[in-house]
Amino acid sequence: MRSIRRYGLIGYPLQHSLSPFIHTRIMEIAGIRGEYRLYELGPKKLEQELPKLLAGLDGFNCTIPHKQAVIPHLRELHPSAALYGAVNTVYRGVGYNTDGEGFRSCRVPLAGRRVCILGAGGVARVLAVEAARAGALEIVIKARTPARSQELIRTVQAQGYAPIRLAAPEDQPAQVYLNGTPVGMWPQVQGVPVEKEGLNQAQVVYDTIYNPTATRLVLQAKSRGLWAMGGLNMLFAQALAAQRIWNPDLDFSPFAQEFAELERELAREVWRRSPIKLVLTGFMGAGKSSVGRKLAELTGLPFVDLDEVIARKAELSIEEIFASKGEDAFRTLERQCLGEELGSSGSLILATGGGTVVQPGAEEAIRSAGGLIVYLDVLLETALRRCAADAQRPLLRGSRREVEELYRRRKPSYERTADLQLAAEASPGEVAAAILTAFGWR
Ligand code: S3P
Repeated sequence: MRSIRRYGLIGYPLQHSLSPFIHTRIMEIAGIRGEYRLYELGPKKLEQELPKLLAGLDGFNCTIPHKQAVIPHLRELHPSAALYGAVNTVYRGVGYNTDGEGFRSCRVPLAGRRVCILGAGGVARVLAVEAARAGALEIVIKARTPARSQELIRTVQAQGYAPIRLAAPEDQPAQVYLNGTPVGMWPQVQGVPVEKEGLNQAQVVYDTIYNPTATRLVLQAKSRGLWAMGGLNMLFAQALAAQRIWNPDLDFSPFAQEFAELERELAREVWRRSPIKLVLTGFMGAGKSSVGRKLAELTGLPFVDLDEVIARKAELSIEEIFASKGEDAFRTLERQCLGEELGSSGSLILATGGGTVVQPGAEEAIRSAGGLIVYLDVLLETALRRCAADAQRPLLRGSRREVEELYRRRKPSYERTADLQLAAEASPGEVAAAILTAFGWR
C-alpha cells in the first residue's frame, strides 16, 4: 500500500466545499498520512472518470449530482446506502451513506412527535427515513415539487412506515421542523422556511444548513427556548464516519476532545469564508457596544460602534448633534452611516444605537445586506442603572415617564426584528459567550 492515502470528493459544483478542510484536520488529529482533494465532475464525466477514481483512490465521498448516479458503477451497496438509495462514501467498490449516521448523532428528539419535513431533495430523504426510524408519530412533507414529495413518501412507506403524507393547510401544527431546503443559506441568509406562527407551536427545530452556522430559523427557535440545532454537527459527523469506514483498523475514540475543538474551528472557518454582519440592537444601556467589543475580542472579527461612526462623520458628539441640529438630522446621519457600514465587505459586528432599528427602512437595509439581528433584551431598570454614570444620551434627559414610554414603545420593534433575542442582564463577557454558543462557536 502507498504510504500516503488518497481520498477525495466527487461532485459538481464543488468550489465552496468544506470537506478538504474537515478531512485534512481529522487526518492530522488521528495521525493518518493522507490527502483529500476535490474532483469536480459534471454529470457527463462520471461514466468516463469514475473507473479511474475507483482504481486510484483509497476512498472517496460523493455529493450532488452523483449520489444516485454512482450506484450502477459500484460492486455492492451497504445497507446504510440502500436505506436512502443514495451513496455519499465509497470504499473498495462498496457504496455507503454516512449522512444518516451524521444526522442520528445529533439526537434530534423525534419519537412520538408530529414532524414536518421541509423539502423533498437528497437531504430531505435522509431526514424523512430517519424520522420514521426514530418513531415519529407522523411525518408531513412540505416541498415545492409534488412529484418528488410523492416519491419520497413512497420510499418511506416501502420501509413499513405508513403515517407519512403531503402537508395540508388544515394540518395540526407540527412539533418538529426539519429543514432540508436551501432557504436561509448564505448568501441569502434572510430566508426563513417556517412561518412565525408555526414556530410558536413547535418544540424542536433542526436545520441541515451549516452556512451560516445558525440560520435565522435556528436563531428564532433558540430565542423561543426550543431545542434547535444547525447542520454543522451533521456535516462533521458524516465526515468522521467516512474516515472510520476508510480506516477500519484505527481507533478514533482517543481524539474525542480534539474533534470537539475541531467542530468549533469549523464554525469559525464558515464565518471566515462567508462573511455576515452581526447587528446588535436593544435599548440604551442594553450593552450593545460593550458586548460587541467583547464579541470582537473573542472572535477576531472587526467591530463598529454606529454612534462612534456618526460622531466621527459629523465631527460632533451625539449630544452636540442633537443639541445643534435636532433629532431628525441625527436620524438622517444615522441612516447614512448604517448604510455605509452595511455596505462594507467582510464580516462585521455592528453595535447600533438604541433608536436605529426602530426607524423605517432600517430592518430592510440590514436584511438586504445579509445581516443577522441580535437583540439584547434588558429590563428598563438595568438600562437606566447602566446609563446613570454617562450624560451622553439626550433621550434619557426626559422625565422617568417619558423614558418608560420610549422603552415600552420600542420593545415590540426590537422583538419583531430580532433573529436572536436574549436576556442581557449579565456581564458583557457572559452575554457575548451566550451569543457565540447560539452560533455554534463554542
Ligand atoms: C439613541 C441611542 C443612543 C444614540 C442616540 C439615540 C436612541 O445610542 O444613538 O443618543 O434613540 O435610543 P445607545 O443606545 O448606544 O445609547
